[in-house]
Amino acid sequence: YDDHRGEYYEINRMAARFFYDAFTKKANRGYSYMEGRGIAPATLKKFGIGYADGEWDSLYRFMVSQGVEVKKLQELGLVSTGKGKCYDRFRNRVMFPIINTSGKVIGFGGRAVSPEDSPKYLNSPESRIFQKKNNLYGLNISRKAAGDEGFLILVEGYMDVIALYQSGVHNVAASLGTALTENQARLIHRYTKEVVLSYDADRAGRAAALRGIEILRKEGSKVKVLHVTDGKDPDEYVKKNGRDAFLELVGNALSYGEYKLESAKLGYDLSIDEDRLDYMKKAVEIIAAMSPLEQEIYKKKMAGDLGVAESAIDRELALREDRRASQTAEAGRKTRREEDAPEER
Ligand code: UTP
Ligand code: MN
Ligand code: MN
Ligand code: MN
Ligand code: MN
Repeated sequence: YDDHRGEYYEINRMAARFFYDAFTKKANRGYSYMEGRGIAPATLKKFGIGYADGEWDSLYRFMVSQGVEVKKLQELGLVSTGKGKCYDRFRNRVMFPIINTSGKVIGFGGRAVSPEDSPKYLNSPESRIFQKKNNLYGLNISRKAAGDEGFLILVEGYMDVIALYQSGVHNVAASLGTALTENQARLIHRYTKEVVLSYDADRAGRAAALRGIEILRKEGSKVKVLHVTDGKDPDEYVKKNGRDAFLELVGNALSYGEYKLESAKLGYDLSIDEDRLDYMKKAVEIIAAMSPLEQEIYKKKMAGDLGVAESAIDRELALREDRRASQTAEAGRKTRREEDAPEER
């Protein structure tokens, strides 16, 4: 069957071209904004960055003049309707075309140029050609480098991808602002078997990294995590410290196990016995979820780190197993009793 996807891709391509022309042909706030953020012309071109001007209907009028149907523009989230009038949905924004690995423009992210405009980023809505959960920003450009380098650096934002790319780090993509999905993990796995998570250095970034670890590992990828130590995200970090410093962070990225253990420590003062115990219980839970070989590695790390005997961790793990076994057995007896009950009557 034909759901006319080709026509929708074509409309987005025309829109991307329209935004690109507005961005490059004459002075505009979008270009000044990106210039102010230190992005060079070659990088802007590479990513097809554009500008949606501040007028109400310039894209709308252009598209109609080209014979494009209004309902298609609406479905793609390029045009909105209010009080019977059509207007451009993206206004006064830097436009980032989102291009899939087949080279089709599937949607846009638009960054506000004025700090008072909200939301900061406006994205295309889901449509027959755009599902956030199935795509990553920048993967069209980075998949080759990711394959060559043997890993992909996964970041949160459009600007992180662009700034890293410009600095010479080309194996980078972003998960489109959402939490990483299983489909995105599968897509990445096609090109490379290792992912270095480099999310923002805030609580949300940490939580997203911890969730990302599980999703990527379920797909069979090797996972490492790095947190920038200066600035709030990879974009700020690489701008201040440059490519080599960032690559050093990549080299020192924690294995997923180390990262989980480190994250579990937050909020505990390990010089206090009670905190120490609470953390150790959490750490044992984390280690218990690992494969036997991984357990060997992380038991050693935990023992060294906390100054406890590895045999104590072994006993703790064994106790935990015993408790689980007796719980399962009890649950089993209970189900059997319930199943037996009707026949006893
Ligand atoms: P951030 O808030 O970390 O923004 O959101 P950023 O990428 O660092 O943006 P700059 O540097 O201020 O320009 C990370 C990502 O989350 C999505 C976008 O994909 C953004 O790149 N996001 C964020 C939205 O979709 N909408 C928003 O309002 C904010
Ligand atoms: Mn058709
Ligand atoms: Mn953030
Ligand atoms: Mn940023
Ligand atoms: Mn950020």
